[in-house]
Amino acid sequence: MNDILAPQTRHWSRIESQVADVLADYGFDEIRLPLLERTELFARTIGEVTDIVEKEMYTFTDRSGDSLSLRPEGTASVVRAGLQHGLLHNRVARLWYQGPMFRHERPQKGRYRQFHQIGAEVFGLSAPQADAELIALSARLWRVLGVQGLELELNTLGDADDRARYRHALVAFLERHIEALDDDSRRRLQSNPLRVLDSKVPGTRELLAGAPRLADYLSDDAGEHFAQLCAQLDRLGVAYRLNPNLVRGLDYYNRTVFEWVTDRLGAQGTVCAGGRYDGLVEQLGGRPAPALGFALGLERLVELVDPGVGDDVLSCRFICADRDALPLALELAERCRDTRAALRFSVEIGGGNLGKQLRRADQGEVDVAIIVGADELAAGTVTLKPLREPGAAQQQVAQADLLATLERQAAANGD
Ligand code: HAM
Repeated sequence: MNDILAPQTRHWSRIESQVADVLADYGFDEIRLPLLERTELFARTIGEVTDIVEKEMYTFTDRSGDSLSLRPEGTASVVRAGLQHGLLHNRVARLWYQGPMFRHERPQKGRYRQFHQIGAEVFGLSAPQADAELIALSARLWRVLGVQGLELELNTLGDADDRARYRHALVAFLERHIEALDDDSRRRLQSNPLRVLDSKVPGTRELLAGAPRLADYLSDDAGEHFAQLCAQLDRLGVAYRLNPNLVRGLDYYNRTVFEWVTDRLGAQGTVCAGGRYDGLVEQLGGRPAPALGFALGLERLVELVDPGVGDDVLSCRFICADRDALPLALELAERCRDTRAALRFSVEIGGGNLGKQLRRADQGEVDVAIIVGADELAAGTVTLKPLREPGAAQQQVAQADLLATLERQAAANGD
């Protein structure tokens, strides 16, 4: 579980607000959810025999004797809240959320016990175009954020009946080759055989090359849904790679599943993942409603976004070459902050010699120092010193013209 400090927090906020803007453009409303839910909610949705529920949840009994868990993901809570507040019945709902999730995993780069997701969930739409729109939205996020090198992996899990028939065939195949399976896969063969497809063990992967394919067990409807999704993605220009072994680690999915992956993050290369879960609303007691969604992992995403991209704000700091200038600096700063332009103002109240103050400004990623000293006090001016352009000239400006001058610079900065 990590503390996130500046300047990382600035980087995070910028990404969060850019993602929120894109979600708003696609008609999503934000929903804020509790960090704790009844343990039972996760067991019923994610699945009793998944890694998350079996061994990764932070679970405790509260003072009333109820078993509660810190949320390991957001989809279950969105469905619970949607049902509780009547948001899902007979209508289309598009909801997004963000915040910390908790899983007691073995920490490594890109995998933490408290991590942050932004998730988007759509209810009430069964058309494959809804899947395509959601995937196109995610593709747009990467473009807006300037992230390159993400690849979309796509698969269909069919419907529950298709999977039951496939499961039968897969188990029969794996049992015939049980001696070639690794221990983990043998265990999964009993509890959750489709997860064997996800194995990273080389011997097991070789064996799987000859295993029955889920694609051969799809109903006509599920096959048609997937074909239409692929056709719509082609039409939208969203490239994808079909991965028949993509099964996901949560049990609620049916039909479409997808992951955005990169090789730039080491072993934890999945930045965003999701799919359809048409049975979940009914499973939690609601009237049947088709649903789909995804969640992206912020720790992984921020690694891929250039911290310099997207910040057009010109950061200015008042620096007093003379203690007597401090009251004026504070007054000018307050006045400047009335601006609507992309300018930010801070005042170096702590003092110290000029060199030290300028160094601190530089470390604080300030673009322009606004120096006020005895000379400026006497002349009614300030000195503007650009900190980001080595060798750039200082400029004397009348105090009355300060804001207009900086507003012109901010406008040029944004171009
Ligand atoms: P998930 O695949 O478990 O799916 O998580 C989604 C994303 O969260 C992952 O692709 C990854 O980027 C990030 N993530 C997961 N675990 C960790 C971790 N321990 N440390 C850092 N990042 C992590 C879900 O959670 C589903 N609720 C997604 C969904 C929404 N499906 C439909 N709607």
